[in-house]
Amino acid sequence: MLYSALINVMVKAARRAGRSLKRDLGEIEHLQVSLKGPANFVSLADKRAEEMLYTDLAKARPGYGFLGEEGGSREGSDKSHTWIVDPLDGTTNFLHGIPQFAISIGLAREGTVIAGVIYNPANDELYIAERGKGAFLNDQRIRVAGRRKLNECVIACGLPHIGRGDHEQSRREMTEIQDKVAGLRRFGAASLDMAFVAAGRLDGYWERNLQAWDIAAGQIMVREAGGIVSGIEGNDNALTTGHVVCGNEFVQAELVKILKPL
Ligand code: IPD
Ligand code: CA
Ligand code: CA
Repeated sequence: MLYSALINVMVKAARRAGRSLKRDLGEIEHLQVSLKGPANFVSLADKRAEEMLYTDLAKARPGYGFLGEEGGSREGSDKSHTWIVDPLDGTTNFLHGIPQFAISIGLAREGTVIAGVIYNPANDELYIAERGKGAFLNDQRIRVAGRRKLNECVIACGLPHIGRGDHEQSRREMTEIQDKVAGLRRFGAASLDMAFVAAGRLDGYWERNLQAWDIAAGQIMVREAGGIVSGIEGNDNALTTGHVVCGNEFVQAELVKILKPL
């Protein structure tokens, strides 16, 4: 598969940081048995991955701004381009040795995401999307699923962690959706939830209170795979609200109809 120079830069960075995370995942299995568990180790792994991504991306595209979950925002001389990066999405999974986590890299130009790469080093699944050029999983073109009956759909959600978000509201949402779908899932890595929607594995996904780095790459992935991404209102911008609803045209609209009043 021939990708643009931009995508090649993103993939190279994701793969290098991915090798580091994969090595660290191996260590975690040993640390699991210790009393304190691997929490400190994971936080170092996370920061190390972000620094690797920053180094590689800044070297290839000097001047671009960088927004990372760990290091916050670093301004560049080029005000129109910003990398939006989660070096480790699915930290809780990683911490427990569950191989559902990813590096997520989006590139925004004038506030619009124009390219995205999501890479799970545990199973070597690499998702790529570039505006107008489609979405790919390990070099194969991907499309959102075509189901139009909610009761045949598998839908994923996010659940707020302890001390975060509105747990009551999230239970109301689950109750409503659970009643209407073939299966409800919670995988624990927002970028991969969106990548799974793009690949047609999941029919839809929603979650509240996310950050730009959880969503940026996933948003272009779903759109380039023919799907719709919005906030809970249906026509708002998930990147700015932090609330995400996505799926094919039909599923996204159905989910919005159910979730909006809750
Ligand atoms: C989290 C994951 C999770 C979602 C959380 C996010 P992190 O990101 O994407 O699936 O439910 O809200 O914060 O903290 O693992 O990078
Ligand atoms: Ca995240
Ligand atoms: Ca993270």
